Formats: sequence, structure tokens, C-alpha cells
Amino acid sequence: MAKKDEQGPIGPTGRPYHGFPTPPKLDGHGPARIIALCNQKGGVGKTTTTINLAASLANYGRRVLAVDFDPQGALSAGLGIPTHDTPTIYDLLLDTKRDPHDAIVPSATPNLDVIPANIDLSAAEVHLVNEVARETILSRVLRKVSGEYDVILVDCQPSLGILTVNALTASHGVLIPLECEFFALRGVALLIETIDKVRDRLNPSIELDGVLATMYDPRTLHSREVLERVVEAFGDDVLETVIGRTVKFPDASVSGKPITEYAPEHAAAQAYLRLARELIARGAVA
Ligand SMILES: Nc1ncnc2c1ncn2[C@@H]1O[C@H](COP(=O)(O)OP(=O)(O)OP(=O)(O)O)[C@@H](O)[C@H]1O
Ligand SMILES: [Mg+2]
Repeated sequence: MAKKDEQGPIGPTGRPYHGFPTPPKLDGHGPARIIALCNQKGGVGKTTTTINLAASLANYGRRVLAVDFDPQGALSAGLGIPTHDTPTIYDLLLDTKRDPHDAIVPSATPNLDVIPANIDLSAAEVHLVNEVARETILSRVLRKVSGEYDVILVDCQPSLGILTVNALTASHGVLIPLECEFFALRGVALLIETIDKVRDRLNPSIELDGVLATMYDPRTLHSREVLERVVEAFGDDVLETVIGRTVKFPDASVSGKPITEYAPEHAAAQAYLRLARELIARGAVA
């Protein structure tokens, strides 16, 4: 076994701790890699991760589009984007001839644009049922703007319905946030099965970009045990960056800002910046 001083510190996933280098500047922008944030379990940190990863990538000079794909509109709210009396993702799905720029709104964070959603999107399932090629509608919408961005993040709703299948069909990669809590792994087999089906039938090149442990509390044995189980199940697909549990996240959401702006020095902001660097180092993002 390597001595501690040879090995350096060990991270919470049991691997040597890497800080990941500051990403190089990009010469130009696009085409975007599209990543869906997906888990049909509710409240695991999909939206929080979409907001803060988007802001962190934008901070490193990447042009980012965050797509709110949940009728609850939490991503839009968390970035302070109004969702009423304004075109939303629903309008783009309903009329694929419509210019997506109609619905794209710049956020207060430089380099970060948003396509908002509101409760209208809950009607999309019904509308899409009778559409031809209904699984590829989001893909057709995003294709029109992907040349302008380096990364497009799609915040999925907690379900494996037609909207999530659309997100997976449109995406190059999928990121699965898992809460370090009881039952974290319950239902994940079904999610992996859904991704496999989408790969078989609709999107042969979709990759698992990583499993992200969220709401980790290193002081509890329970949290550490859950993370161990997640690493047993997913091995190196578990991202080294782990997001700790802190009330700063709900606080930041209320303020309508990413945590990187609400509390930039806080460990939680630093964790999302590190996640952005890790995904760039892994090649998941340019
Ligand atoms: N690391 C964290 N520590 C503490 N609270 C967190 C953390 N991440 C997210 N939260 C809080 O937990 C709640 C659920 O998070 P979030 O909305 O990101 O999950 P979600 O998976 O998008 O949920 P849904 O399935 O309902 O869309 C929110 O109130 C959020 O502020
Ligand atoms: Mg959400």
C-alpha cells in the first residue's frame, strides 16, 4: 500500500484527491455538447446542479445554454428568469418551425442563457403523444442553436416520460445526480434501462457522463455508507467531485442566483466550480 505522503489526500469516493486544472480558454464556440441531468427520483439535486454547473462552466468562459425541461420551472426561478407572458420551451416544442431565439433569455450571469419553462409544459405530454417522431422534437429544436454554445444542459423533470425521453434523445451525455440518502439507488436500474433503450432505438451515441453524489454529509456514517454503495455500483463513473449538504443552496435559489454568485467563497460554490473543471478534464465538455 502506498504511504500517505506518496499518495496525497484521498477524496470521499476513495480515490486520490485531484483539484483539476483551470481549464484553458477556448478560441471559438460550438458546436455544443448536450447533457441531460436526469433522475426520476424527485429532489436529488438535478436543478441545483444544472444551475450551478451552468454558472461554473460559464465562469470558465464556456458559452452555456440551460434548458428548463420541467413544468415546475424551478431552473428558471433559480436563475431569476420570469416564466409568464414570455415564450417558453413549450412553445418551441409545439411549433418546431419557430426560431428558438424567441425563447432564449440571457441570465444575469455572463455567458449563460436560459430557455425557461412554466406549467404549460405539463400539457406537452398529451400533445406529443400523437406527433410523428415525437421523441426527437427537442433534438430538432436544440440543433438550430447548438452552434452558438459550447454546452447545453437540460434540467429534466422527475419522471421517465416522453419529455425525459426527448431530453435523452437530444443529448450526447447524461449526468445522474444521486442524493446520499436512503434509497438513493432505488430506481436507478430503471433509469439505466431507459438510457439503454434510448441508446438502442433513438440515440446510439448517448454516453453516461457521470454519476454525481449530492447532499453528502461527511459527518454521518450513513452518508459515507451510501456513497460507498454508489461507488460499488458505478465505479469510475462516479465523479470525484461530491456536493456537500448545505442550506446555502435553498438560500441561493430564493435569491434567484447561482451559488457561485450568491456565496462564491463557500465550499459549495467551490464544489460546483471543481465539478466544471472535472467534466472539462474528462472531456465531457470542451
Ligand atoms: N447539496 C445540497 N444541500 C442541501 N440542499 C440541497 C442541495 N442540493 C439541493 N438542495 C435543495 O434540495 C431541494 C431539491 O433540490 P433540486 O430542486 O435541485 O432537486 P431536483 O432533483 O431538481 O428536484 P425535482 O425532482 O423536484 O426537480 C431544493 O430545495 C434544493 O435547494
Ligand atoms: Mg428539478
